[in-house]
Amino acid sequence: MSQHPDTQTTDTTDTTDTTDTTDTTDTTDTTEDSSKRLRIVNTFMKRRTHMNKKAELALTSPEFTQYIVNNSSGDGDLQGITDLRALFDDTANGPNAPLTLEIGFGLGDSLIEMAIADPARNFVGVEVHEPGIGKCAYMAGTQGLSNIKIINGDAIKLLQQLPENHLDRIQLFFPDPWQKKRHHKRRFVSPERMAIVTRSLKPGGWFHTATDWEHYAFWMLKVLDLMPNLKNQAGTGNFAVRPDFRPMTKFERRGIERGHGVWDLIYIKQ
Ligand SMILES: C[S@@+](CC[C@H](N)C(=O)[O-])C[C@H]1O[C@@H](n2cnc3c(N)ncnc32)[C@H](O)[C@@H]1O
Repeated sequence: MSQHPDTQTTDTTDTTDTTDTTDTTDTTDTTEDSSKRLRIVNTFMKRRTHMNKKAELALTSPEFTQYIVNNSSGDGDLQGITDLRALFDDTANGPNAPLTLEIGFGLGDSLIEMAIADPARNFVGVEVHEPGIGKCAYMAGTQGLSNIKIINGDAIKLLQQLPENHLDRIQLFFPDPWQKKRHHKRRFVSPERMAIVTRSLKPGGWFHTATDWEHYAFWMLKVLDLMPNLKNQAGTGNFAVRPDFRPMTKFERRGIERGHGVWDLIYIKQ
């Protein structure tokens, strides 16, 4: 995790669509370039940032391998990861415990704190940022957690290969707000991406998101209120009261320090 992509000046490893120059409110996850080739529009930009010693240790030492499901470096190979419940077959909770997927956990603060606070629930985190994957695995190992697994890769691709009605909760805390209008199509919360998210939730399951970016908060409210099989827990047009169980993350803390508000949104699959 480093600077937010919208404010970042160096981008060393980006393999995504950075050449886009047209303003658009398109929310699909593909776009056509000038040669009419279809390109994937990612919700993230991979960056090379400092890896601290603890994160590096967790990515290389055998005692942490139980936490990291696939290759921890480079682009995550998601092949064969089609059942997140099965990842817990040999754990104390087993595969049938309630299951939460956290998308874009960053450094893992919220994921680890929630896994400690709710030991009977299983947690899977998916992230593309290697130092964050390492830091999260390190914290899981030092806490001796058995209810957490970490996946390196694009959450959208992962969700597309999971069964329908698979997850009890999906959480997305402080997603990149992609402030510029021409980048809005990269926002994680879009009708197309939310259809993919909703498909893998069980009926009665939750989608919980939070942001400190006001424009994105109202964008999310509009997109999510219109999703046919999601019901706003706070009532249409309303934000949720910040729940006690959502830990403070680095991005939330930074937003508050800058004088931003924080908006929570919780939706239940019908
Ligand atoms: C602004 S950071 C917030 C991190 C953390 N949730 C927090 O509150 O501190 C957004 C994170 O989402 C990750 N991300 C964005 N799109 C993703 C995707 N499609 N799959 C996995 N991770 C993604 C980014 O790598 C980044 O670490």
